[in-house]
Amino acid sequence: MTILGCRTGDSSGHATTTERPDPHSFSIPQEARTTHLNLDIQCDFDHKMISGTADYTIAHQKADQIIFDVNGPVITGVAIADEAGKTKTAHYALGQQDSILGTPLIIDILPDTKRVIISFHTSENANALQWLDAAQTNNKKMPFLLTQSQSIYARSWIPCQDGPGVRFSYDARVKVPAGMMAVMSASNPVRRAESGVYEFLMNNPIPAYLMALAVGDFDFKPIDHRTGVYAEPAILDSAAWEFADLGKMVTAAEQLYGPYAWERYDVIVLPSGFPFGGMENPRMTFLTPTVITGDRSLTSLLAHELAHSWSGNLVTNATWEDFWLNEGFTTYFENRIMESLYGKSYADMLSLLGYEDLLKSLQEMGEDNPLTKLKLNLKGINPEEALTDIAYEKGKNLLRYLEERLGRATWDPFLKAYFNRFRFGTNTTEGFLGFLDSTFVNMPQSIRDTVDRWIYNPGLIRYQPAYDNSRFRSVEEQAKQFINNPSMALKTTGWSTHEWLHFLRNIGPDSTGQIAQRLQKQFDLDHSRNAEIAFCWLNYLIENGRGQEHLVQISHFLQSVGRRKFVQPIYENLVKHGLSGEAASIYRIASPFYHPLTRMSVEEILQKRL
Ligand code: BES
Ligand code: ZN
Repeated sequence: MTILGCRTGDSSGHATTTERPDPHSFSIPQEARTTHLNLDIQCDFDHKMISGTADYTIAHQKADQIIFDVNGPVITGVAIADEAGKTKTAHYALGQQDSILGTPLIIDILPDTKRVIISFHTSENANALQWLDAAQTNNKKMPFLLTQSQSIYARSWIPCQDGPGVRFSYDARVKVPAGMMAVMSASNPVRRAESGVYEFLMNNPIPAYLMALAVGDFDFKPIDHRTGVYAEPAILDSAAWEFADLGKMVTAAEQLYGPYAWERYDVIVLPSGFPFGGMENPRMTFLTPTVITGDRSLTSLLAHELAHSWSGNLVTNATWEDFWLNEGFTTYFENRIMESLYGKSYADMLSLLGYEDLLKSLQEMGEDNPLTKLKLNLKGINPEEALTDIAYEKGKNLLRYLEERLGRATWDPFLKAYFNRFRFGTNTTEGFLGFLDSTFVNMPQSIRDTVDRWIYNPGLIRYQPAYDNSRFRSVEEQAKQFINNPSMALKTTGWSTHEWLHFLRNIGPDSTGQIAQRLQKQFDLDHSRNAEIAFCWLNYLIENGRGQEHLVQISHFLQSVGRRKFVQPIYENLVKHGLSGEAASIYRIASPFYHPLTRMSVEEILQKRL
C-alpha cells in the first residue's frame, strides 16, 4: 500500500505536500472535506446495481482539489456548484489503484466551490452490497439488498471521504421497486410507499462507515415510544418478543452515560446471510436473525449495538488504529447495560465468556503479536486483518481495570463527561489519555503506567477481573464429572445459551468419541437451532476428528448461516483437520448466499482448493 504525499493548493496558492491523516483513506480533509451529502439513487435488482448522484456540500479554504475514495463505483460525471447554485462540469481524475484502498478520485474545484456532484453507478465489485434473490430470504417473495460499510466499504457503493475522521450529515431519496420497503441509518418510514420512493434524513454528522441501506420485504412493529423492530413479516412478531426490553435498554444506557443523542432507536432483522452479529448503523441497528433464539438469551448483542450510539457513533475512533475506542468502550458499556437490567451475576457470566474468548485469541495470535496491542499501527495493513476481538475484550478489561481501581463513583461520571466532551467528533487513543490525565491529576503513577502497558504493549496485562462466577460453578463441576463418566445424566434444566457454551468449552478433548456420542444422544446438539450452540458444538466435533461423520450437519449450518464469526472458523477448522476438499465443496454450494465480505474471508482460507 502506498501512502503518497499529494500535491494540493494551500491558501496562498502554493503547491504543498500534505500527509494523509488516515492510512485507510486517500482524502485530505484538512484541505477540503465533505460536510453534507444529498444522495439520490435507485436500486436496480435486475442488474444488481445502484445508480444516481452523490451531491456533497464541502468545506475548504480556497483549495484547488478535493479527494474522495472509490473502490468499485464507476464515475460517470462530476459537476461543481458555487454558492449561488450555479453548476458546471468539473475536471476529475482517478489516481493509482491500491489493492486495499481502491482509488483516489481527485476533483478540481474553484475557490468559490460549495458543492461537488458526482454521478455514479456501482459495479460488480461492490463489496459492501449483498444482493439476495427472493429464494435466499425467509419469505421467499422478494429479493433483498443490504449494505455493510464498516470498515472501508462505504467507498464500494458511494464515492465518499471514507475515513472515520470525516463526518457529514445526509439526506437521501431512494427509489426501489414498488412494494418493497427501504430503511437507512436515518429517519425512517414505518409503512411501505406504493411509489417505491423513500426519503431519509440524518441530521447529525456521521462518518461514512455508518452509511447504510436495506431494501426488502419487511415491516415495522413498535416496541415502545422510541424503539421498534423491522423484520420480514413471518418473523416480525417473534423478533418483537425477543427484543421486548429494547426501550428499557435505552433508558438504562441513558442513566449510565447521558442522553441518547439520536431520537429513535430501531433495529432491523436481516436475512441470515448478513455477515455480522450486529452493526450499529445510527438509528437503525442491523442484526443477524441468529439472535432470535426464542428465549431472549442473546440480547446482549442488542445492548452492544445500542452502546455504540455513544461509543463509536457519538465519539468515533479517529482512524481504525484507535478501533478499541469504539469496540472496547462499547463492550464495557454493553456489559454495564446488561448489569443494570439483569443483575451482576448475569452480566459477569457474560464477561467470563468474553474473557475466555480473549485468552483464546491471544493464544492463537501469539502474545507478542503487535496486533494484540490496543493502539494499532495499520500503515499498509488491511483493517480486515487487524480489527480483531482484542479491541473488544482487552479494551473492555482495561476499562474494567480502571473502574475497579478508581471506583464507580468517580469512574462513571468520568465516562459520561468523556462522551459529552467529544460528542459528534472523533478521538484518538492519546486524546482519551489526555482527558483521563486532566480529570485524574492525582492518579497513582503505577496505575497510569499500567494503562500505558495495556494500550501500547502486546499480549495480556496480568489482571484477574473480579467476576462473579457463581452461575458457571455448577456447569464446571458437571463438566468435570462428565469427562470421567460420560454416561451420567447431566442436569441442564434452566441452562441458557451461556451455560451451554461454557460447558462445551470445558469438556476437553474427546479421544474416544464417547463424549460427543453421549451429548448427541441426550441433547441432539446436531440439530440445535441456536446458532451459538451449534457453532460451538460443530467446532468441537471437527477439532476432535468427528467432522467427517457430521458433514451433513456442518454443511447444513454453513448453508443457513452467513455470519462471518461462525462461518470463518468452521472453514478454518475443516481445513486444519484434513477436510479441505469437503470444505471447498460445501463452499461452492453456500457461497451465493454469503455476503462479499464473508466470501473474501473464506476464499482466503480455501485459496488453494477453489
Ligand atoms: N461494529 C461491529 C461490527 C464490525 C466491526 C464490522 C469491524 C466491521 C468491522 C459491531 O458492533 C460488532 O461488534 N458486532 C459483533 C457483535 C458484538 C456483540 C460483539 C458481531 O457482529 O459479532
Ligand atoms: Zn461493536
